[in-house]
Amino acid sequence: MVFNEKGRALNLDRHSNSDLARRRKLAVPQGVAVKNDLYVESAKGSEIFDIEGRRYIDFAAGIGVLNVGHRHPTVIHAIEEQLKRTLHTCFHAVPYAAYIELAEKLNALVSKNHAHKTALFNSGAEAVENAIKVARVFTGKQEVIAFSDSFHGRTLMALTMTGKESPLKTGLGPMVPGVYRVPFPRDIPGASKDAAPSQESISTQQSLNAITSLLASEVSGLAAIIIEPVQGEGGFNIAPPQFLEALRGICDANGALLIVDEIQSGFGRTGKYFAFQHTAVEPDLIAVAKSLGGGLPISALIGRAEIMDAPAIGALGSTYGGNPVSCAAALAVLDIIESEQLLDRAETLGARIQSLLSPLCLEFTAQIVELRRTGAMVALEFTDAEVVAPIVTMARERGLLLITAGRYGQVIRLLPPLVIDWGLVDEAMGVLCACTRQVLLNGPETC
Ligand SMILES: Cc1ncc(COP(=O)(O)O)c(C=O)c1O
Repeated sequence: MVFNEKGRALNLDRHSNSDLARRRKLAVPQGVAVKNDLYVESAKGSEIFDIEGRRYIDFAAGIGVLNVGHRHPTVIHAIEEQLKRTLHTCFHAVPYAAYIELAEKLNALVSKNHAHKTALFNSGAEAVENAIKVARVFTGKQEVIAFSDSFHGRTLMALTMTGKESPLKTGLGPMVPGVYRVPFPRDIPGASKDAAPSQESISTQQSLNAITSLLASEVSGLAAIIIEPVQGEGGFNIAPPQFLEALRGICDANGALLIVDEIQSGFGRTGKYFAFQHTAVEPDLIAVAKSLGGGLPISALIGRAEIMDAPAIGALGSTYGGNPVSCAAALAVLDIIESEQLLDRAETLGARIQSLLSPLCLEFTAQIVELRRTGAMVALEFTDAEVVAPIVTMARERGLLLITAGRYGQVIRLLPPLVIDWGLVDEAMGVLCACTRQVLLNGPETC
């Protein structure tokens, strides 16, 4: 029996979004935030159906998890076949081929020049934690440089490196010592010197100067620099190629490792398997997760073989890491990216979204800072964060699911499945344009 705040028994047979919202508030802590208070009945491709029968086009896609869409038939088939054989043995206790096959494929995807090795985990945060463990053991040093507006996860080391205080770190200190943060470069078009913090421009040189200054004053044992080549939660800020090249140089000069966090940007989202592949830079370690599993939990740390072999036997791992069902799903995802040519499709999809949103950007030059994208990782940044929540709410009421990003929540980020039908893209962008226009013309309170 479940009771409400007044001790009255709730009728669990009546299924509605509002009932479940009420029960959620009683049963689940508020810290577990919910961006859309609607409850899913089923999902397929790029659409979600809620328990009241409403249909939504899904531009959140599990926060970047569903590059191949909801319940892709090839993923479902691979999972079903694996279920007939084994659910779990723990790779450390009794290993299986799928783990090795997945590791081989990921190694081949990141580099043709050097031998790589891969360890599998369950979540993005775990992959990031292990990246730092490996970097510390390999270099024999401890210190790490991370960036403002970064997001690396919610476990303690990942959280320490994350460049956002509230609400993520509130009351959780002390964080792990030895982590330093510098500004991520951000080129805001037309930004003045006195711009509001949300529109502050940071040049590549300013960022590099901050690192040089840290290395001269505070950091003497740099183990690694960790960066998202395209920031996710931070608002899809794009690291300029010359910046990544300079970081590579700084790491080499200081005997440190360059770690890229491709957890949100990986597996075709940006039009390449990984965002760093838009540059000539080869990172030492690559943390991936999200879209790798096509909806099942799996993450990986991929790195240069000699670096990945630094931790002693038994120093890496987890009970569920690289679970056979998740490995089967991940192998299917990699097949789909190839067979459906999703790298090319990501670029075409991003270009189509850009062309559909361009008239809106031209109409509201004072309110829309910019539309930026790498492949199909598309962000619409607003001058005033106040307008964003009403646009997202209105879009949801009209059947489009969106999520926000950015330090102030001033960005709408678009993460549609890469397999989405063109008709749904056009419909979704029609809704986004109409809602944005309505809110910008009539004010946030219109919603
Ligand atoms: C870039 C990046 N790194 C790390 C994480 C953490 O991943 P997880 O939530 O699977 O721990 C996320 C999650 O949003 C992310 O976007």
